[in-house]
Amino acid sequence: MSLIYVLNGPNLNLLGKRQPHIYGHETLADVEADCRKLAAELGLEIRFHQSNREYEIIDWIHEAREDGAGIVINPAAFTHTSLAILDALNTFEGPVIEIHISNVHKRESFRHHSYVSHRADGVICGLGTEGYQLGIRRAATMISGASKG
Ligand code: DQA
Repeated sequence: MSLIYVLNGPNLNLLGKRQPHIYGHETLADVEADCRKLAAELGLEIRFHQSNREYEIIDWIHEAREDGAGIVINPAAFTHTSLAILDALNTFEGPVIEIHISNVHKRESFRHHSYVSHRADGVICGLGTEGYQLGIRRAATMISGASKG
Protein backbone atom coordinates (compact mmCIF):
# COMPACT_ATOMS: atom_id res chain seq x y z
CA MET A 1 0.00 0.00 0.00
CA SER A 2 1.46 3.39 -1.01
CA LEU A 3 2.25 5.72 1.85
CA ILE A 4 1.71 9.48 1.53
CA TYR A 5 3.10 11.95 4.04
CA VAL A 6 0.81 14.92 4.73
CA LEU A 7 2.98 17.55 6.43
CA ASN A 8 1.89 20.81 8.01
CA GLY A 9 4.05 23.71 9.14
CA PRO A 10 3.87 26.30 11.92
CA ASN A 11 0.65 27.66 13.40
CA LEU A 12 -1.53 25.17 11.52
CA ASN A 13 -2.21 23.51 14.88
CA LEU A 14 -4.40 26.57 15.48
CA LEU A 15 -6.48 26.01 12.36
CA GLY A 16 -10.13 26.84 13.09
CA LYS A 17 -9.13 29.39 15.76
CA ARG A 18 -6.49 31.29 13.80
CA GLN A 19 -7.77 34.10 11.53
CA PRO A 20 -10.88 32.12 10.52
CA HIS A 21 -11.78 34.80 7.95
CA ILE A 22 -8.65 33.68 6.08
CA TYR A 23 -8.26 30.00 7.00
CA GLY A 24 -11.85 28.96 7.78
CA HIS A 25 -13.43 27.21 10.75
CA GLU A 26 -12.26 23.65 10.17
CA THR A 27 -9.65 22.39 12.63
CA LEU A 28 -6.53 20.45 11.67
CA ALA A 29 -8.15 17.39 13.27
CA ASP A 30 -11.08 17.83 10.83
CA VAL A 31 -8.62 18.07 7.92
CA GLU A 32 -6.81 14.95 9.12
CA ALA A 33 -10.11 13.02 9.40
CA ASP A 34 -11.05 14.02 5.83
CA CYS A 35 -7.60 13.03 4.55
CA ARG A 36 -7.81 9.65 6.30
CA LYS A 37 -11.28 9.02 4.84
CA LEU A 38 -10.07 9.81 1.32
CA ALA A 39 -6.91 7.75 1.77
CA ALA A 40 -9.03 4.74 2.77
CA GLU A 41 -11.20 5.21 -0.34
CA LEU A 42 -8.11 5.40 -2.55
CA GLY A 43 -6.40 2.46 -0.83
CA LEU A 44 -3.55 4.61 0.47
CA GLU A 45 -1.87 4.87 3.82
CA ILE A 46 -1.14 8.34 5.18
CA ARG A 47 1.09 9.77 7.89
CA PHE A 48 -0.32 13.14 8.96
CA HIS A 49 1.96 15.46 10.94
CA GLN A 50 2.14 19.08 12.05
CA SER A 51 5.03 20.90 13.67
CA ASN A 52 6.04 24.42 14.61
CA ARG A 53 9.70 23.31 14.34
CA GLU A 54 11.47 23.36 10.99
CA TYR A 55 13.80 20.45 11.85
CA GLU A 56 10.86 18.12 12.56
CA ILE A 57 9.44 18.76 9.10
CA ILE A 58 12.88 18.08 7.60
CA ASP A 59 13.15 14.84 9.61
CA TRP A 60 9.72 13.67 8.31
CA ILE A 61 10.83 14.41 4.74
CA HIS A 62 13.94 12.28 5.38
CA GLU A 63 11.68 9.53 6.78
CA ALA A 64 9.56 9.77 3.63
CA ARG A 65 12.71 9.11 1.57
CA GLU A 66 12.79 5.66 3.19
CA ASP A 67 9.16 4.60 2.99
CA GLY A 68 7.03 7.36 1.41
CA ALA A 69 5.61 7.31 -2.11
CA GLY A 70 4.51 10.97 -2.09
CA ILE A 71 4.43 14.14 -0.02
CA VAL A 72 1.57 16.62 0.33
CA ILE A 73 2.88 19.62 2.25
CA ASN A 74 1.50 22.87 3.60
CA PRO A 75 4.77 24.40 4.81
CA ALA A 76 2.86 27.48 6.13
CA ALA A 77 5.27 30.37 6.81
CA PHE A 78 8.30 28.12 6.12
CA THR A 79 7.15 28.25 2.48
CA HIS A 80 8.53 31.75 2.23
CA THR A 81 11.69 31.31 4.31
CA SER A 82 13.02 27.77 4.28
CA LEU A 83 15.81 26.82 1.94
CA ALA A 84 16.39 23.88 4.30
CA ILE A 85 12.93 22.42 3.57
CA LEU A 86 13.53 22.90 -0.17
CA ASP A 87 16.88 21.10 0.12
CA ALA A 88 15.19 18.23 2.00
CA LEU A 89 12.41 17.96 -0.62
CA ASN A 90 15.06 17.88 -3.35
CA THR A 91 16.32 14.61 -1.84
CA PHE A 92 12.86 13.01 -2.22
CA GLU A 93 12.09 11.26 -5.48
CA GLY A 94 8.30 10.88 -5.47
CA PRO A 95 5.60 13.46 -6.18
CA VAL A 96 5.49 16.58 -4.00
CA ILE A 97 2.31 18.67 -3.90
CA GLU A 98 2.38 22.06 -2.17
CA ILE A 99 -0.83 23.23 -0.51
CA HIS A 100 -1.97 26.59 0.80
CA ILE A 101 -5.43 27.04 2.24
CA SER A 102 -5.49 30.73 1.34
CA ASN A 103 -4.67 32.29 -2.01
CA VAL A 104 -1.18 33.51 -1.15
CA HIS A 105 -1.02 35.53 -4.38
CA LYS A 106 -3.93 37.67 -3.26
CA ARG A 107 -2.17 38.49 0.00
CA GLU A 108 0.98 40.37 1.08
CA SER A 109 3.85 40.39 -1.42
CA PHE A 110 6.13 38.50 1.03
CA ARG A 111 3.81 35.49 0.57
CA HIS A 112 4.22 35.49 -3.21
CA HIS A 113 7.57 33.72 -3.22
CA SER A 114 7.78 30.05 -2.31
CA TYR A 115 11.06 28.13 -1.90
CA VAL A 116 9.03 24.90 -1.92
CA SER A 117 7.57 25.66 -5.37
CA HIS A 118 11.05 25.19 -6.84
CA ARG A 119 10.56 21.47 -6.12
CA ALA A 120 6.78 20.96 -6.02
CA ASP A 121 5.21 19.08 -8.91
CA GLY A 122 2.02 21.05 -8.33
CA VAL A 123 0.77 23.87 -6.14
CA ILE A 124 -2.79 24.27 -4.88
CA CYS A 125 -3.72 27.52 -3.17
CA GLY A 126 -6.86 29.40 -2.29
CA LEU A 127 -9.17 26.37 -2.38
CA GLY A 128 -9.50 26.15 1.37
CA THR A 129 -8.93 22.87 3.17
CA GLU A 130 -10.32 21.06 0.11
CA GLY A 131 -6.83 21.62 -1.31
CA TYR A 132 -5.58 18.73 0.84
CA GLN A 133 -8.07 16.34 -0.78
CA LEU A 134 -7.13 17.53 -4.25
CA GLY A 135 -3.43 17.25 -3.40
CA ILE A 136 -3.80 13.67 -2.14
CA ARG A 137 -5.78 12.71 -5.26
CA ARG A 138 -3.10 14.18 -7.52
CA ALA A 139 -0.26 12.50 -5.59
CA ALA A 140 -2.15 9.19 -5.87
CA THR A 141 -2.55 9.61 -9.63
CA MET A 142 1.14 10.38 -10.03
CA ILE A 143 2.16 7.43 -7.85
CA SER A 144 -0.01 5.07 -9.86
CA GLY A 145 1.64 6.30 -13.07
CA ALA A 146 -1.76 7.28 -14.51
CA SER A 147 -0.88 10.97 -14.66
CA LYS A 148 -1.80 12.67 -17.94
CA GLY A 149 0.90 15.32 -17.66
C1 DQA B 1 -0.55 29.20 4.37
C2 DQA B 1 -0.13 30.54 3.76
C3 DQA B 1 1.16 31.04 4.39
O1 DQA B 1 1.55 32.29 3.80
C4 DQA B 1 0.99 31.27 5.87
O2 DQA B 1 2.20 31.65 6.47
C5 DQA B 1 0.38 30.08 6.56
C6 DQA B 1 -0.64 29.29 5.89
C7 DQA B 1 -1.94 28.75 3.86
O3 DQA B 1 -2.25 27.58 4.09
O4 DQA B 1 -2.68 29.53 3.27
O5 DQA B 1 0.68 29.83 7.71
O6 DQA B 1 0.40 28.21 4.00
